Amino acid sequence: MGKLQDKIAIITGAASGMGKAEALKFAEEGATVVVADLNKEGAEEVVQQIEANGGKGLAIQVDVTKKSDLEEMVSKTIAEYKQIDIVINNAGIFDKYTASLDTTDEQWDLIFNINLKAIFQISNLVLPHMIERGKGNIVNIASIAGLVAQMGGAAYTASKHGVVGYTKHLAAVYSSKGVKINAIAPGTIRTPLTEEMLKTRPTNKIPLDRFGNDYEVAELAVFLASDDSQFMNGAVVPIDGGYTIV
Ligand SMILES: NC(=O)c1ccc[n+]([C@@H]2O[C@H](COP(=O)([O-])OP(=O)(O)OC[C@H]3O[C@@H](n4cnc5c(N)ncnc54)[C@H](O)[C@@H]3O)[C@@H](O)[C@H]2O)c1
Repeated sequence: MGKLQDKIAIITGAASGMGKAEALKFAEEGATVVVADLNKEGAEEVVQQIEANGGKGLAIQVDVTKKSDLEEMVSKTIAEYKQIDIVINNAGIFDKYTASLDTTDEQWDLIFNINLKAIFQISNLVLPHMIERGKGNIVNIASIAGLVAQMGGAAYTASKHGVVGYTKHLAAVYSSKGVKINAIAPGTIRTPLTEEMLKTRPTNKIPLDRFGNDYEVAELAVFLASDDSQFMNGAVVPIDGGYTIV
């Protein structure tokens, strides 16, 4: 029996990178995965891969900056499966280290809408359902850019610090209702988002002297989404090869 047997999990940004690795791993652990992404074909391919491995999934095209898309994602999931056990708020974009003076209002708003506001809106859509059931599990994908400076630019760093703060808020207020809310703070992980950047980036500032892999983050997401982590509450767990300890 898998660690997420018969759970219904929504994962945003699940067509690529860490979200895709999480979708495949969650399905392997017995969850039915709603693969929600702006990239429709990519989401469908992930579901095909899940099904080829003997798992269950549903692809939904979602732009997380559109509230109507988020409402539809949640209502479709409940209509199809009657419940939502897990939400992994993973969709996010990077600002390529753009410093404050070089960041436009539009760039700031886009990063905040995808990286932070969508998490607030999705949480407000699923929390009433989870509170009513007295159980549920939310894992927000922050970043070590939510813990320290210089792992992103102005908007990315501020938005990911926001994810950390918002996760703590949710956990403080709603954990007593049975909802478990934690965050993951990945260091530099090999994904399509970082592929180009990593060609020239040294690893010597990371004590483990390497970048991380998407499947390593997926393992941590399974732990936080499962009943193995019952006493985790509002935690922000770095997975960064030790980058933030030195
Ligand atoms: N890769 C890293 O080193 C790293 C480190 C720390 C945190 N993160 C965070 O992890 C998360 C995943 O990153 P990744 O590296 O796997 O990225 P990725 O670019 O490989 O995947 C991101 C996915 O999000 C989707 N997406 C983008 N905008 C969207 C929107 N408006 N609506 C719906 N989906 C949208 C994309 O289509 C894509 O499938 C992000 O939140 C990122 O900030 C990444």
